[in-house]
Amino acid sequence: MIRTKRNVLSHTMTSQNNPSPESTKTWSGRFSEPVSELVKRYTASVFFDHRMAMQDIQGSLAHARMLARQGILSGEDLADIERGMAQIADEIARGAFQWNLDDEDVHLNIEKRLTALVGDAGKRLHTGRSRNDQVATDIRLWLREAIDLILNLIKAFQLSLLDVAEAHAATPMPGFTHLQVAQPVTFGHHLLAYFEMTRRDAERFADCRRRMNRLPLGAAALAGTSYPIDRESVAAELGFDDLCRNSLDAVSDRDFAIEFCAASALLMTHLSRLSEEIILWMSPRVGFIDLADRFCTGSSIMPQKKNPDVPELVRGKTGRVNGHLVALLTLMKGQPLAYNKDNQEDKEPLFDTADTVIDTLRIYADMIGGIQAKPGNMHAALAQGHATATDLADYLVKKGLPFRDAHEAVALAVRAAEERGIDFSCLGLDELRTALDKVPGAAERLAEDALAAISIEGSLRARAHIGGTAPDAVRAAIARARNELDAQKGA
Ligand code: ARG
Repeated sequence: MIRTKRNVLSHTMTSQNNPSPESTKTWSGRFSEPVSELVKRYTASVFFDHRMAMQDIQGSLAHARMLARQGILSGEDLADIERGMAQIADEIARGAFQWNLDDEDVHLNIEKRLTALVGDAGKRLHTGRSRNDQVATDIRLWLREAIDLILNLIKAFQLSLLDVAEAHAATPMPGFTHLQVAQPVTFGHHLLAYFEMTRRDAERFADCRRRMNRLPLGAAALAGTSYPIDRESVAAELGFDDLCRNSLDAVSDRDFAIEFCAASALLMTHLSRLSEEIILWMSPRVGFIDLADRFCTGSSIMPQKKNPDVPELVRGKTGRVNGHLVALLTLMKGQPLAYNKDNQEDKEPLFDTADTVIDTLRIYADMIGGIQAKPGNMHAALAQGHATATDLADYLVKKGLPFRDAHEAVALAVRAAEERGIDFSCLGLDELRTALDKVPGAAERLAEDALAAISIEGSLRARAHIGGTAPDAVRAAIARARNELDAQKGA
């Protein structure tokens, strides 16, 4: 993917103030005066849509081959077009292609160059199509590649996440609600929550790809074309699963781009939550993890600082991705059928979304692997929150005490622990009995095994069902996750 920004590209872009006949716009015969420099810049998209050049060539070749098969274009013309396009693709790959602002967008730039290289055959290429169905095809081809890359990167992220989760399948940490210590969980279990989130993200991207993978070409400007085209064969050559079934819809809707941005916004939101946790965990006040130095920066003034810049930027960049989603929804909402130039504004948000998601996933896969957990600190935090109080209530319920009574009795035991300045899990059997005595039926239900139930390890071990935090359940979840990833296409 070319990642040239507008200002960089404009250095290499030519624009002629007095257009020569060759650079006159394709549709200029209808007009009596040229557009101003400002209007030219304002309406041009080649600054950014040149990123779809290879897809544009791919689409044009499939279209030309179909025209030749249908007898609309001669074999000779097709050969010229194929030869010219091969040279153009090579020029673009070498960075030698001269993008020209006068030719507005990627489509006209390439067509102009083709005509310069092969003459009339180049002028015949556009038979039976319009830039409207051409651009709708190019974006789909481009986005399809981006999604395939994103799916691979999500998988790489998940694999590193699973490695860390496996190493910490039995490492206790406090689980929080309201950012207050709630119950013990394992660090591995906590990380697996993000596996599930990104698993749904991957499903959303795959689903978006499936719905997007339909061919718009053939819709022409909006109404279809009078030439005897064969859309199915073009779809097959370009790897589309189906055809867009309505020509007006094919050229005008960008719902697939919106879906992509929505899937991206959710993925980034998940990574932003993880980033927030990483930032919190590595704060010296919490100290649950350390992050490899290569993801952090120092302060220009405070020599002691190690700042989690990368996760902070992930959190920050989520804002721009969310913004792009809203931009595209807003772009679409007022447009009457069919194509309107508004749609040209779909590309920058779309490209920036894909770039941001791709870079974020790349960096994250590596960053997750660079997490060093500090089990001692996690354990110390856990031992300060009376995190196993619920386990004693459950214990009493299992011995026949109604839950509300058990809840009240345990609250008294928590108070006793508070008064002594120790964690609930450190109370002895006698202390528990004394505390529970005030609730009828509670104290006599206590036995020696209550101590194991309120220990951190006992609390974890007890939650051994699917989706629970017991180390064995976490290991089983990891194994299931690995099997699933192995079974995926391209594994
Ligand atoms: N650059 C245009 C876009 O991105 C291509 C389609 C132009 N079509 C038109 N009728 N002006 O949407």
